[in-house]
Amino acid sequence: MNPILVTGASRGIGAALTALCAARGRPVIAVARHFAARPAPGVTQITADLAGRDGIARAAAAVTMPLHALVNNAGIQQALDLADPDPAAAEREIALNLVAPLHLTCALLPQLPRGATVVNVTSLLARHPKPSAPVYCASKAGLASLTRSMRHQLGPRGITVIEALPPLVDTQMTAGRGAAKMPPETMARAILDGIERGRPRIAPGPSRAVLALDRLLPELVARLMARG
Ligand SMILES: NC(=O)c1ccc[n+]([C@@H]2O[C@H](COP(=O)([O-])OP(=O)(O)OC[C@H]3O[C@@H](n4cnc5c(N)ncnc54)[C@H](OP(=O)(O)O)[C@@H]3O)[C@@H](O)[C@H]2O)c1
Repeated sequence: MNPILVTGASRGIGAALTALCAARGRPVIAVARHFAARPAPGVTQITADLAGRDGIARAAAAVTMPLHALVNNAGIQQALDLADPDPAAAEREIALNLVAPLHLTCALLPQLPRGATVVNVTSLLARHPKPSAPVYCASKAGLASLTRSMRHQLGPRGITVIEALPPLVDTQMTAGRGAAKMPPETMARAILDGIERGRPRIAPGPSRAVLALDRLLPELVARLMARG
């Protein structure tokens, strides 16, 4: 069985997806900078910093067989005050959230046969930004656009390209924020089932409702998202 490569696999949605794949007998190549636990059977851990080209090359070099899917999940979200910015932090955020999915997907094209899938994990904030995280929102908007471009170019090669839009999920990224958050295991199940279904978008639960409302009342949704 061909493996799924999951970036950002050490915690949160990526760790839950890795665990789910392992439980279903699907091999996983798990990529992150630090792993606290030893890999489960069927999981290969690759330590790589994807915010730089060396780390991307290292992750790509670890793939020696055709992939079932590539899940570009690793991401960071940082607050940024435009009046007092941290340029290095902003560039790192763009590098991980937008540039890494681009370069990793290109580098792995030889390992993505007809029938393979690329999943890019974007955000509802790609549609409407929240004020405190302008670079995060811009990077996810860029990734959403890149996803559509990938679909144009990779579709003719028989590769399905999917955008996954999590709602608020209970991970380290959202610690101390929001209520009624989706468990990461539920989001992981939506991603894995979405890969098998092959539809262009994975938007479980509240995400689907927000996207539906956005089609009818985009200004209302923009105001709600701006509340953060
Ligand atoms: N949680 C939500 O509500 C939510 C909503 C919408 C979208 N998303 C998106 O879902 C994805 C997963 O988010 P999450 O909530 O699971 O976040 P998380 O719990 O903070 O996990 C982020 C993952 O990315 C990895 N990572 C961070 N910097 C990295 C780097 N430089 N190189 C390689 N890996 C790196 C982390 O591992 P290391 O630190 O070990 O490298 C970790 O495994 C992200 O793209 C996020 O934007 C999340």
